Amino acid sequence: MTSPFDLTGQVALVVGAAAGGLGEQAARALAQAGATVAAADLALRKDDLAATAEVTGATVHEVDVTDETSVSALFADVVTRHGRLDVVVNAAGVMLRKAYDQTSLEEFERVIRVNLTGTWLVGREAGRTLTAQGHGGRVVNLTTVYAERVGPVPESAYYSSKAGVANVTRSLASELGRHGITVNCLAPGVFYPTQMTAALGADPERLQWFGDRTMLGRLGDPDTDFAGPLLLLASPASSYMTGQVVYVDGGWSAW
Ligand SMILES: NC(=O)c1ccc[n+]([C@@H]2O[C@H](COP(=O)([O-])OP(=O)(O)OC[C@H]3O[C@@H](n4cnc5c(N)ncnc54)[C@H](O)[C@@H]3O)[C@@H](O)[C@H]2O)c1
Repeated sequence: MTSPFDLTGQVALVVGAAAGGLGEQAARALAQAGATVAAADLALRKDDLAATAEVTGATVHEVDVTDETSVSALFADVVTRHGRLDVVVNAAGVMLRKAYDQTSLEEFERVIRVNLTGTWLVGREAGRTLTAQGHGGRVVNLTTVYAERVGPVPESAYYSSKAGVANVTRSLASELGRHGITVNCLAPGVFYPTQMTAALGADPERLQWFGDRTMLGRLGDPDTDFAGPLLLLASPASSYMTGQVVYVDGGWSAW
C-alpha cells in the first residue's frame, strides 16, 4: 500500500527556500517524500538557494513575493520547467523586533507587504495555477504561534501580519475547496536556529526562557521537528483538512 505521505510524481514549489531556514527544511522533506522540488527565494539569496538545490535536487527560481509580476513569472516558470504543480509551500517572511513607537510606517508596511500581501499573492497565483490544471493540490502557509495572540517581545508589525496570514489561509481555503485544493498553515513556536531567529543566540537567557515556556521544555529543532507536520499538510495524508492553523510549538499555545 502506498504511504499517504508519498509524493512520488508530484511537483512541489517552496518559496523562501534559501538554506538555513524552515523553507530549506520543507524542500528537504518534500524531496525525501518523492516530490520534484522547485526552490525559490530573493535574488540576493542566490548562493543559499543553490545550497538548498544541491541537497534536494531542486530547480532554482528567483522571486520577490511583494511583486505580483515576479510571483506570476515564478509560477509560469515552474509549470514550464516541470509540466505540472501539486504543492506550494510559502515560507517567505521577515521579522521586525521593535517597540510600536519606534516602528516607522515604512517598516510596518514592509513587514505587512512581505508576510501578509506576499502570502496572498503567492496564494492567488497558486489557486489560479492549480485550478487551471484541475487535479487539486495543497497550499501550505507559515504563520506563527502568535497567529491569535501576541508574545512578550515587541513585534507589532510581525504579529499583525501573521494574524492576517491565518485568515488569508482560511479565505483561500473556502474559495478553493470545491476544486480539491486544500490551504492550511503551520504555526511554529520558536525554531532555533534559522536566519530569522539567529539573533536570539546573543540573548541566551531569553532563548532558555522560550524553551522553558513550552510543555516539551525545549526550542523547536529545524532539522528534526518541522518535516513531519509540513509533510502532513503537503501530502494526501491531510486530504480532509483545510483552512486550519496547525500549531508546531512544543505545546506553547496549549497552556
Ligand atoms: N524560525 C522560527 O522560529 C519561526 C517561528 C514562527 C514562524 N516562522 C515563520 O516561518 C517562515 C520561515 O522563517 P525562518 O525562520 O525559516 O526564517 P528565514 O529568514 O530563514 O526564512 C525566510 C525566507 O524568506 C525569504 N524572503 C524574505 N523576503 C522575501 C521576499 N520579499 N520574497 C521572497 N522571499 C523572501 C528570505 O530570503 C528567507 O530565505 C517565516 O514566515 C516565519 O515568520 C518561523
